[in-house]
Amino acid sequence: MIFDLSEDHVMMRKMVRDFAENECAAGAEERDEKEEFPREIWNKLAELGLAGITFPEKYGGVEADYLSYAIAVEELSRVDASVGVTVSAHSSLCANPIYLFGTEEQKQKYLVPLASGEKMGAFGLTEPMAGSDASGTRTTAVKDGDDYIINGTKIFITNAYEADTYVVTAQMDKSKGNKGIAAFILEKGMPGFSFGKKEKKMGIRSSATYELVFDNVRVPGENLLGQEGQGFKIAMVTLDFGRIGIASQALGIAQGAYEQARKYAKERVQFGQPIAHFQANQFKLADMATQIEAARLLVYQAAYLATQHKPVSKASAMAKLHASETAMWVTTQAVQMHGGYGYTREYPVERMMRDAKITEIYEGTSEVQRIVIGSHILKE
Ligand code: CAA
Repeated sequence: MIFDLSEDHVMMRKMVRDFAENECAAGAEERDEKEEFPREIWNKLAELGLAGITFPEKYGGVEADYLSYAIAVEELSRVDASVGVTVSAHSSLCANPIYLFGTEEQKQKYLVPLASGEKMGAFGLTEPMAGSDASGTRTTAVKDGDDYIINGTKIFITNAYEADTYVVTAQMDKSKGNKGIAAFILEKGMPGFSFGKKEKKMGIRSSATYELVFDNVRVPGENLLGQEGQGFKIAMVTLDFGRIGIASQALGIAQGAYEQARKYAKERVQFGQPIAHFQANQFKLADMATQIEAARLLVYQAAYLATQHKPVSKASAMAKLHASETAMWVTTQAVQMHGGYGYTREYPVERMMRDAKITEIYEGTSEVQRIVIGSHILKE
C-alpha cells in the first residue's frame, strides 16, 4: 500500500508538531515527576479540534480521517506520551463507541461535548479479575424498572477522575457469558459512582489512572449503549479502533527516542570523535529507523482501513503489536546509546523508555494481539 499523504495530513502533522513542541515539551519532565495531569494542555488541544478529529462536524468533531487522528496522536506522543494517551483514550474508547453504537439522543447529549473537548471521556472495561479475559467482568447491572443498578469495581482506567463521561461494561446475566454483558454511559457525579486509588505508574505518569467504584449506581435506561447483551461486542469493536490510537502513541514514542539518539550520537564525543562515527551506533540507528518505518506503514494502513470502513481488527492488532514492540526496543537502544546519561532524568530517553512499556500492555497485551491476529489468519 502506498501512502500519499494529502495536504490536510501534512498540515495536521505540522500543526500538532508545533503544538507539541511549543506547549507540551517544556513541562513533560516536570509533569512526569509530579504525576500532574496535563489539564491546561487538554484545554488548548481541544480548542484546536484534537478532541474530536474523526467525528462528523454535526457531532462537534472536525470530520477528518483516521490517518489524521493517527498522525496527531503520533506527534503528541513523540514529545509526551501521557498527552497522547489522554487524547487516544478519550477519542477511541469513549467518544467512538458512543458514535458507533449510540442513539441520536445519546450522540447529542454525550458525543457533541466530547468531540468538542468541552467534556473528557474514559472507558471502564478492566477489572481485578477481568484483564486479558475481558469477558470475565464481575461488575453487575440489574434492571430496576426503566433503570439499571450498577455495582462493582473497574481498575487501571485511563483518564478516570479527570473525565466527565464513562463508557462502562457490566454483567447482566452470568449464565450467558459474554452475551450477558451490557455497556452503559455513566457520568461523573452520579450518586454511588466514586473513584478509588490513583495508580502510581512506571511510565505515562502524568496521565490519570484510577479505579472506578460503583455502589448501587442508578443509571437511567436511556444510558444503555446498544442493546443488553451487546456490551462485549461493543468493547471488542471499540478496542479494534482504540488499538490504532495506542499503535500511534507507540510510534510517536519510538520516533521521539530515535531522534534523541541520533542527535546525541552526533554530538557526543568519545575516543576523539562523535559516537555516530562508530559503525555499532550507525547500525543501531539504521535498525531503529527501519523498524519505525515498518511500524508507521502498519499504523497508517490500519488507519486507512478504518477510514474506508473496512475490517480493521487484524490490521490494528498487527499495528499495535509491531509499533509497541518497536517503541520498547527503540527506547531501550536510545538509552543504551546515551550511556550513563541515558539512565538519568537529565535526558528524555529515560522517560520515553518507561512510557514505551505500557504500550505492550494496555488495550490488549502483545500476547492478546497475537491471539487476535492468530484467530484471523487461521480463518482466512
Ligand atoms: N469485533 C466483533 N466481535 C468480536 C470481536 C471483534 N473484534 N472479537 C470478538 N468478538 C466476538 C466473537 O465473534 C464472539 O462472538 P460469538 O460468541 O457470537 O461467536 C465473541 O465476541 C467472543 O469472542 P472470543 O471467543 O474470541 O472472546 P474471548 O473471550 O476468547 O476473548 C480476547 C478474546 C481477544 C482475548 C479479548 O478478551 C480481548 O481483546 N482481551 C483483551 C482486553 C483488552 O484489550 N483490554 C484492554 C482494556 S482497555 C485499556 O487498556 C484502555 C487504556 O488504558 C488506554
